[in-house]
Amino acid sequence: MTEKNISLSGTDNTCNTADQPDYLVLVNRNHPLPKGWINKLDLIEEVNSLGETVVYESRTYSAYMKLKQALAEEGIFVQVDSCLRTVEEQQEIIDMFLEKYGEKYTREYAAVPGYSEHHTGLCLDLYFVIDGMDIYLNEDTEKYPEIWEKIHEKLARYGFILRYPAGKEKITGYNYEPWHIRYLDDPQLAERIMDSGITLEEYLEAF
Ligand code: DAL
Ligand code: ZN
Repeated sequence: MTEKNISLSGTDNTCNTADQPDYLVLVNRNHPLPKGWINKLDLIEEVNSLGETVVYESRTYSAYMKLKQALAEEGIFVQVDSCLRTVEEQQEIIDMFLEKYGEKYTREYAAVPGYSEHHTGLCLDLYFVIDGMDIYLNEDTEKYPEIWEKIHEKLARYGFILRYPAGKEKITGYNYEPWHIRYLDDPQLAERIMDSGITLEEYLEAF
């Protein structure tokens, strides 16, 4: 594991000026990555079970390690296939999705570069390993709703929320993604959001 600096410039929003990133930052279809965001981040990288290097915001990584350990104690072995993405990496995903899944799926599951929460380094795409096999394709992980349910039950305790819940597609702008979790750096708030079944958009609008 090493620390890494990468280049990722924001678009037309402004970023908070505190030393820490704003863990409640909203990046969605209507809100691009704040300008200068990357300069706020301490980054850590780790290689996953697929041999891919994943770059994390450091507190998000620490919380993920605790979540991973708690899940392992219940026999669920999670890995991450994506945390921080550059604009170029987001475009590569779009190109791959368009080719593999077509336009509708791509629109419903992939953000336009500059408007992906993955640019923040505060969200993770999880997958899991069963009997030594990596189950990482969206369509394969979706075959295990009972595993996702157990994972989702544990999220809030470690400061994460499920970012794109089922039934909230009109609010989040994306289809249900059981794998995409968002770190808020505040377990109590994460608990409130998860217990009430609201989205980050609804919470930020209300408070
Ligand atoms: N899958 C989420 C919406 C993204 O592409 O950022
Ligand atoms: Zn994601």
